[in-house]
Amino acid sequence: MFTVNANGAKIPAIGFGTFRMPGADVLRMVPAALKLGYRHIDTAQIYGNEAEVGESIAASGVARSDIFLTTKVWVDKYRHDDFIKSVDESLKKLKTDYVDLLLLHWPKSTVPLAERIGALNEVRDAGKVRHIGVSNFNTALMAESVALSKAPIVTNQIEYHPYIDQRIVLDAARKSGMSITAYYAMADGKVIGDPAIKAIAAAHGKSEAQVVLRWLVQQDGVVTLSKTVGEERARRNFDIFDFELSAGEMQALHALAKLNGRIVNPVNLAPQWD
Ligand SMILES: NC(=O)c1ccc[n+]([C@@H]2O[C@H](COP(=O)([O-])OP(=O)(O)OC[C@H]3O[C@@H](n4cnc5c(N)ncnc54)[C@H](OP(=O)(O)O)[C@@H]3O)[C@@H](O)[C@H]2O)c1
Repeated sequence: MFTVNANGAKIPAIGFGTFRMPGADVLRMVPAALKLGYRHIDTAQIYGNEAEVGESIAASGVARSDIFLTTKVWVDKYRHDDFIKSVDESLKKLKTDYVDLLLLHWPKSTVPLAERIGALNEVRDAGKVRHIGVSNFNTALMAESVALSKAPIVTNQIEYHPYIDQRIVLDAARKSGMSITAYYAMADGKVIGDPAIKAIAAAHGKSEAQVVLRWLVQQDGVVTLSKTVGEERARRNFDIFDFELSAGEMQALHALAKLNGRIVNPVNLAPQWD
C-alpha cells in the first residue's frame, strides 16, 4: 500500500469509508476491512456510527497505533465549548484517546473560521488529535485556514472522481504541503460501466472501480476513500497496488471531467467552489 506524506502526516493512500453505513454493517465491514489490510478508517460525528467504528477497531486485534483513524466535527458543534465537548464524545465513542486526523466537515457556518481553527489546534495541543484538516473547502478557505493555524493543515477532503476537475484545489494543496482526500470516488456508481474506464480496465484485467481508485492514488498527494458493504468488493477495491496506469491512461481519465460533474453540493453547507 502507498502512504501519502502531508505536512508530517503519513496517511495510508486508501481509507475505508463509513458514510451511509448503519452500525450493523460497520460491525461487519470494519473488521473485514482491517483483515484485508486497510489501515485507514474514515468516519464522522454526523454518520452516527463512531461507537461501532470504535468497537470494531478495539476488537480487531490490530494495534490502534497501526490504524489511521479520521473523524469530523459536525457544523452544529463549531462553537468553541461545543467543539471541545464533541471531540471528547467522539473519542469516548471511538474507544480511543486520540484520532489521527480531525476535520471540519463543511465550511459554511456563522462561527468564525478563526474560532474553529483555534479549536482544532487546541485539541491537537491536548494530544487528542494527531493531525488536523478540513473538508469541502475551496482554495480561498484553505489559504485562510493555513494562515490561521499554528499547526499544519494536512488534508482537504473533497469530492473527487474522473467526472470532476479538481486541478485548482490539487495545485493549491500541493503548494502548501497538504494532501487531498478523495470522496465519492465511484461518482455515485456512475464510473461503473463507463465505456472509456471499462476499456482501460479491460487492458489491465481490472474493474472500473479498481481503475478509478488506482487513478486517484497514483496522483501526487492524493488519498482516496472507498466505501462498500460487500466484503468481496472491499477486497477488490484494495487490490490496486499491483498495476500501474500509463501517463496516457491517467490523462484519458482526467479528460472525462465535465463542467457539471459535481454531485455533492448542499447549499447550506458548501462554499463557492473553485
Ligand atoms: N467529507 C465529506 O463531506 C464526505 C462526503 C461523502 C463521503 N465521505 C467519505 O468518503 C467515503 C467514500 O464515499 P462514498 O461513501 O460515497 O463511497 P464510494 O467509495 O464512492 O462508493 C459509493 C458506492 O459505490 C458502491 N461501490 C463500492 N465499491 C464498488 C465496486 N467495486 N463496484 C461497484 N460498486 C461499488 C458502494 O455500494 P455498496 O456499499 O452497495 O457496495 C457505495 O455505496 C464515505 O464513506 C465517507 O467516509 C465524505
